[in-house]
Amino acid sequence: MAIVAVTGRKGGIGKSTITANLAAELIELGHKVVVLDTDPQQSLIAWAGLGDGVLSTCVEAVDTAKPEKFREYVERAAKKADRVLIDTPPGFADPALLASLLADVVLLPAGPSPLDIMAAREALELTKEARAQRNGRKPLIRFIPSKVLANTNLGRDLKASLEGLGEKALPTICQRIAVAEAALSGLTIREYAKGSPAHTEFMSLAKALEEVIKK
Ligand SMILES: Nc1ncnc2c1ncn2[C@@H]1O[C@H](COP(=O)(O)OP(=O)(O)O)[C@@H](O)[C@H]1O
Ligand SMILES: [Mg+2]
Repeated sequence: MAIVAVTGRKGGIGKSTITANLAAELIELGHKVVVLDTDPQQSLIAWAGLGDGVLSTCVEAVDTAKPEKFREYVERAAKKADRVLIDTPPGFADPALLASLLADVVLLPAGPSPLDIMAAREALELTKEARAQRNGRKPLIRFIPSKVLANTNLGRDLKASLEGLGEKALPTICQRIAVAEAALSGLTIREYAKGSPAHTEFMSLAKALEEVIKK
C-alpha cells in the first residue's frame, strides 16, 4: 500500500492532470486505486463527471477541514486500495501539509517559468516541514517537470533546475493538446489517446513512481 500526494503552491501547473492520469496508469499496472480530491473546487470530481471512464470509478471528494477526520478517511481508503492518490488545491497550505503528513511519496509538479520554480521551492519547504514533523524519513519527495513545451531549452533545463533544489525529478510531462482534450471528454489520456506521445509520458511517469514507492 502507498499513499501519494500531489501538491504545489501554484494553480494550473498540472496537479489534477497528473493525479488523474497517474491513476489510470496505476490501474493498468494492476493496482486498486482510490483518488481523493481535496480541492474545494472538486476539479477531479467534475472531470470524472464529464465521462464514464476509469476516473468515474475511483475519485472521491474529501474534506480536509477537520484534520483528524481527514486522516481517518485516508486510512480507510488505504485499507480498500493499494494506491491512494491525493490531489490537493493550490494556495492553501493546510490540505497540502495534511496530505504530506500522511503520504509515502509527495509529488511536486512544476512548470518551466522562473515563477514556477520559485513556487516549487516553497512547496518543497512545506513538504520538508511535514517530513521533519515525522522524524525525517517520509514522505519521499519527487519533482515532476510539467506542462513543458517539447523541444525547448526551457524544458530541457527545468529538470536540472528542479534537481538543483535538492530532490530528484521524475520523467517530464509535456504540454500536449490531447491531455487537455481527454479531460474535456471526462477521460484519461490512456482512454482518449492510447499509445500517443502524451500517453507514453504518463506510462513512464507511473513506472518511475512505482520505483520510488518500492524504495
Ligand atoms: N500536460 C498538459 N498538456 C496540456 N494541458 C495541460 C497539461 N497539464 C495540465 N493541462 C491543462 O492546464 C490546466 C490546469 O491543469 P490542472 O491539472 O487543473 O492544474 P492544477 O491542478 O495544478 O491547478 C487544465 O486546463 C489542464 O487541462
Ligand atoms: Mg487541481
